[in-house]
Amino acid sequence: MKDLFSKIYRDKGPLGKWADQAEGYFVFPKLEGQISNRMKFQGRDVITWSINDYLGLANHPEVRKVDAEAAEKYGSAYPMGARMMSGHTDLHERLQNELADFVQKESAYVLNFGYQGILSTIDALVGKDDVIVYDVDAHACIIDGVRLHLGKRFTYKHNDMDSIELNLARAEKIAEQTGGGVLLISEGVFGMRGEQGKLKEIVELKKKYNFRLLVDDAHGFGTLGKTGAGAGEEQGVQNDIDVYFATFAKSMASTGAFIAGDQEVIDYLKYNLRSQMFAKSLQMTLVEGALKRLEMLKTMPELKNKLWENVRALQGGLKERGFDIGTTTSCVTPVYLKGSIPEAMALVKDLRENHGIFCSIVVYPVIPKGLILLRMIPTATHTQEDIDETLIAFSAIRERLENGTYKKLSAAIAKQQEQS
Ligand SMILES: Cc1ncc(COP(=O)(O)O)c(C=O)c1O
Repeated sequence: MKDLFSKIYRDKGPLGKWADQAEGYFVFPKLEGQISNRMKFQGRDVITWSINDYLGLANHPEVRKVDAEAAEKYGSAYPMGARMMSGHTDLHERLQNELADFVQKESAYVLNFGYQGILSTIDALVGKDDVIVYDVDAHACIIDGVRLHLGKRFTYKHNDMDSIELNLARAEKIAEQTGGGVLLISEGVFGMRGEQGKLKEIVELKKKYNFRLLVDDAHGFGTLGKTGAGAGEEQGVQNDIDVYFATFAKSMASTGAFIAGDQEVIDYLKYNLRSQMFAKSLQMTLVEGALKRLEMLKTMPELKNKLWENVRALQGGLKERGFDIGTTTSCVTPVYLKGSIPEAMALVKDLRENHGIFCSIVVYPVIPKGLILLRMIPTATHTQEDIDETLIAFSAIRERLENGTYKKLSAAIAKQQEQS
């Protein structure tokens, strides 16, 4: 019999095995300074394109003031216990009511973390006779929620209506036999490639198939739709989303999350979400902070307008220079380049060290082999100067990628490593 830890000693897992080459730089980098468009990385000033602070609230003076006052008033313990037992307050209720109102739903329930919250939402919505249909590119929290499901599940090709319909038909057939129902899960915005989920078309299928729709709108909440209510509002189908989920971790620049829907559905969920029933309630500092942020989302449309001004300038500038930004329909801005993983590493190093640009890099197996994805998140704090500098830098790195500079550099690094 093996020692349970033998795999730990052998390697550190699919990502951990790269730790020696990547840690501290490509993974677990330490960005320093106040959260904003410009921060420090390893002592250098960098323009940051990798923080989901869409509306620039992370370091907004009004937000900082409320956060500090709430910390002074409540400390970080209050309230103690799970919501159901001893962790419930008037302010949690007020936040829920205001969130429900903002996303145009009857009721809402605040969650201590988005990841665990949506995982439990999926778990609570389905039983073994039910069938889940979900996008193959779903976020890890959805995949992990589906993993808890004891019944059938089908993935459909990313945002592909034919595949969605085929899998709904399959799911319906099975549900008819088992006596269960069907849950379809989509994201409002897919966080890697920036495409909105095809919510309008999915909702249209409700005329033909019997299913309920759960939408994870982590990236759409606060950034899309006339009032900022998200991808459903943007596509005119907010009413047809049965359970709406969003996190405070992006446009609200905080921690926590919520689900919203019809009163009866939310009442059911609040008694059945295991990750909330058996875990500490969202702290008061975060609840007060969320109320302030929500007020700003409602009363300061200029934040969303500025964000979109920057999105248009960045995405437009990239397209003008011939960059492939895929099919994004949100603020998430992917830039696709062709190259190997070692070339990608050399390119990112060049961007950070010689051009002062910090953005996330995504490679195989998340995207197909031979592609490099530079994932950029514009925010309301970026300036035209940031965008201009970045566009110049991107043209320079593309030239070096195409003329083989990074191939040579990465080969030299590999040789050095072999010798050492
Ligand atoms: C699509 C999506 N869903 C859920 C989550 C989880 O939210 P939280 O950070 O609040 O746990 C994230 C966060 O990265 C996300 O991108």
